[in-house]
Amino acid sequence: MIRNDFPIFSSEDGDVIYLDNACQTFRPRQVIDAMNEYYELYPACGGRSVHRLATRVSIKLEEAREKVARFIGCDDPDCIIFTRGCTEALNMVAKGRLLKDGDQVLTTDMEHNSNHVPWLQLAKYQDVRHRILETPPSGIFDMDRFRHALDGTALVSMVHTNNITGTSVPAKEIVEEAHDRGALVCFDGAQSTPHQRIDVKDLDVDIFAFSAHKMLGPSGMGVLYAKMEVLERMEPLIGGGGGVGLTTYDRAEFLPPPERFESGLMNYSGIIGTGAAVDYLTGVGMDAIQEHERRLNDIVTSGLKDLPGISILPPVDPSLRSGIFSFNLQRMSSHDIAMIIDDMAKVLIRSGMHCVHPYFITRKIDGCARASFYLYNTEDEARRFVEAVRELAAVFSG
Ligand code: ALA
Repeated sequence: MIRNDFPIFSSEDGDVIYLDNACQTFRPRQVIDAMNEYYELYPACGGRSVHRLATRVSIKLEEAREKVARFIGCDDPDCIIFTRGCTEALNMVAKGRLLKDGDQVLTTDMEHNSNHVPWLQLAKYQDVRHRILETPPSGIFDMDRFRHALDGTALVSMVHTNNITGTSVPAKEIVEEAHDRGALVCFDGAQSTPHQRIDVKDLDVDIFAFSAHKMLGPSGMGVLYAKMEVLERMEPLIGGGGGVGLTTYDRAEFLPPPERFESGLMNYSGIIGTGAAVDYLTGVGMDAIQEHERRLNDIVTSGLKDLPGISILPPVDPSLRSGIFSFNLQRMSSHDIAMIIDDMAKVLIRSGMHCVHPYFITRKIDGCARASFYLYNTEDEARRFVEAVRELAAVFSG
C-alpha cells in the first residue's frame, strides 16, 4: 500500500485529504531516508575535495544525475543541471543569452509567472519581443493559432501541462512545427513530469525544466535539461566556484556543462533526494500514476459537473485535465471555498490565481479553487471531496 510509505499519513494531521499536489507533494520514507543518509553518513562537499567523504558525495550526485536523465529519456547525464526549482531553471534559459537583439520569444496566456516574469525582465535590458499566444475559450490548445504566431519566433517557451486546468499542449507537434520554422522549444514541465511519462529524446525538445517538489522530491530542487549544443551556447546565470576551471584577475574559464551551471555549494541532500524520488516513481510506474489520477478526476468531475452554481474551468472533460480539477461556486470567493472546506472536512486545496494572473485578469475571474491529485490519493478521498463541495454549495452558495 503506497500510503504506508508516507510518514505524514500516520502523523497527527494524517487524516487530511490532501489535494494540493500541484503545489507540492508529500515525500515517501525512501526520499526522506536518502536525504537523511547524506546528513548522517557523508555530510561533506561534492565535486571539490578528494577525501573519502567528499568522494562518496560526488558519486551519489552523479548517480542522481544518471537517474534523472533516464527518467526523462535523456541518454547524456551531462545535459542534466540541478537547480533550485523550475523557476530558477526557466530564469537560466531567459537570461542565458540564447536570444539576440530583435528575436521573438513566444509564450502562452497559460504561463506560470516562472515562465512569464523572466521574459518581462529580459525585455527591459534586451531588444527581445515577447508574443503571447491566446488559448481559445474551450481551453484546448489551437495548433492553427500557434502556426500563425510562430512567424518571426526564435524561441517557443511554453507550459507543457498548465497548473490551472491541467491540459497539456501537443508537445511533439509543437516541436516539429517550431523546428521546421527554425525556432528552439523550451517546455515548462513542472506539471507534466510528475504525472506522465516524459521522453525528451522522442519529443526532440531543446530545453525542458521541472521541479522535484511536485514529484515526491525535496523542496527547493529542480532540473534543467537541454541538448548539449544548447547548453554550450548558454551563459550561466550564476558564476563562482565549481563552475570554472582556472581564473585570473581578468578572466574566468567556464567548465563544460553541467558544472558551468552549478557554481556555488549545491543542495547535496536535495539532489540525492531527487534521485530517490525518481526511483520511487519509476517503481510505481508513470503510466499507472497517470491512469490512477484520471480515475480520481473522473469520479470528481462526474460527481460535481451538474451541481447547481458550479463552474469548472474548461475543458470539462476530465480525460483532458490530468490530475487537476479547478472550479468556482457562485457567491463564494475561491479563498472562502478553500478555508471552509478545510474547516468542514479537512480537505486541503489551493485557491486564488495560482501564479497565472493574466489568465484570470483577461477572463475577468478573480481566481478559482483547485483540487489536484497524486498517486497516494484514494477513490474514497475523491468521493469525500465531492460530498464536501456539495455540502459547501448547499450551505453557502445556493
Ligand atoms: N505552481 C504551483 C501551483 O500551481 C505553486 O500551485
